[in-house]
Amino acid sequence: MDTNKYIPYQPVELKERTWPSKRLDHPPIWCSVDLRDGNQALIRPMDLDAKLSYFKMLVELGIKEIEIGFPAASDVEFQTARTLIEGGHIPEDVAIQVFVQARPHLIKKTFDAIKGAKHVIFHFYNSISPVQREVVFGSDIAGVTKLAVDAAALIRDIGKTFISEGMDLRYEYTPESFSASEPDVAIHICQEVLNTFGATPDRKVILNLPTTVENMLPNQFADLIEYFILNLPSRDCSIISVHPHNDRGCAIATAELAQLAGAERVEGTLFANGERTGNVDLITLALNLFSQGIDPKINCSDIVKIRQNYERITGMHVHERHPYAGQLVFTAFSGSHQDAINKSLHYRREHNISTWNIPYLPIDPADIGRRYDSIIRINSQSGKGGAAFVLETNYGFVLPKAMRPEFGAIIQKESERTGAELTAEDVFNIFSKEYIEVDGPYRLKEYKFDEKSFGDEHSLVSFTGLLTYEDKSYPISGSGNGPIDAFFNAVRNLSIANYHFVSYSEHAVSSGSDSRAAAYIQLQAPDGKMLFGVGLSHNIYMASIRGILCAINRGTKLQQA
Ligand code: KIV
Ligand code: ZN
Repeated sequence: MDTNKYIPYQPVELKERTWPSKRLDHPPIWCSVDLRDGNQALIRPMDLDAKLSYFKMLVELGIKEIEIGFPAASDVEFQTARTLIEGGHIPEDVAIQVFVQARPHLIKKTFDAIKGAKHVIFHFYNSISPVQREVVFGSDIAGVTKLAVDAAALIRDIGKTFISEGMDLRYEYTPESFSASEPDVAIHICQEVLNTFGATPDRKVILNLPTTVENMLPNQFADLIEYFILNLPSRDCSIISVHPHNDRGCAIATAELAQLAGAERVEGTLFANGERTGNVDLITLALNLFSQGIDPKINCSDIVKIRQNYERITGMHVHERHPYAGQLVFTAFSGSHQDAINKSLHYRREHNISTWNIPYLPIDPADIGRRYDSIIRINSQSGKGGAAFVLETNYGFVLPKAMRPEFGAIIQKESERTGAELTAEDVFNIFSKEYIEVDGPYRLKEYKFDEKSFGDEHSLVSFTGLLTYEDKSYPISGSGNGPIDAFFNAVRNLSIANYHFVSYSEHAVSSGSDSRAAAYIQLQAPDGKMLFGVGLSHNIYMASIRGILCAINRGTKLQQA
């Protein structure tokens, strides 16, 4: 790899930069360039219908400035403009933006395309970098300045008629390859363009400053923007827009730091579609703001639908790890992550906390239409907390803390055995098979409880029943101060073996109108091992008895194994 080949970027000299101590506290003006910059980078560019659906989606997201294409470039592009305008598809509060090179015949054709529209941003550009000036155009600074100024004059002159006919017509100029150009040359050309339009603080012109190819660190770009703003004579007559591409993977940071440095507007696309590595992703920028408690003014409340529409229309795929939208970004695979999420979600619920402070989840997935139950999936790395969390959130079983390692180990073993990731349903089936469907070797055939109360505090419960074991029936009876105690004593009288009662907990499990009690019984087996049993019944007494029998049966089977 020949490093001598590459010329490092020379950052602008800015001694007293102010942007590092600024904060982002409001969204920028968003402009979508999906239908132009994004579209031109698709393997199969959108047809008219696709463009119309995409436009509708952008409108639904709340984006108010939408570049609809390059009307002078092709018939589809021209027809897109005409159909949107004539079909009444453009809401009152949305401006369409049309894109054109600084060339007279293309400018005229672009004006033909926008006839009848209410709010239009007329966006023209020419490249100004040294390599494009000299090598591509065989020109110089004066030459590219003249190109921009002549185009601005033509647009201004034709635009007058449109304005007089009632169009809200605004102008945007892009010095293409801005980030690869001398800052003072860019300032000079942009100022000439502002002068030509006669821009004023009441009639500002948008100056769109791209990293056409991202070639520097985001902080260097922020310096460049602050420098540009400081040195542009008619800054108050302009809106500073940025248009970051992502060649170094820093487009998000570039856009964010540029806003700190004074940029008021950001051009980008959904999910970063665009030339090469793409344009800056408006959804990520918006949700980054949202995660800081700032209303981004882009409605991402159904991100899955947005992603699906985007994928369907563009034929592109949103990566599984794409911020906020990727399939896996709210999925924790690591056991320690799951445990922390689980505990923090519980804590938040129990303490009625309205703010979001959950480890590993930068925002509440529900805010963007994603579901909690997809947060955790189980594999052999998931640990004890994950399986319990899945059972609780999906099926309403709240395992006692002491039972989680036991159940986690069962899940882990199964996951290792199959080598696969287990779904929530798999976890429930394993739980059910291990604890709820346990049938024998001990079975209770008949039973009866009698309860005598002595005042408020004390009662004596007697239990009688018939237990079977390997084709033999055993009448059992016992009493105690509660049903568990009575049944446990009855079983002990039969001397099934030396099980010791350790702990008990229960809760109601509801599904629809049906509510049953789940009882968790921890016993100590004769060999000293602790083990749990689970009982489920509409009757709370029966749930406890089933729990005890379940634990004994599990213990017996383990001994026999
Ligand atoms: O990336 C770029 O420089 C552009 C401009 C021409 C707007 O797309
Ligand atoms: Zn671009």
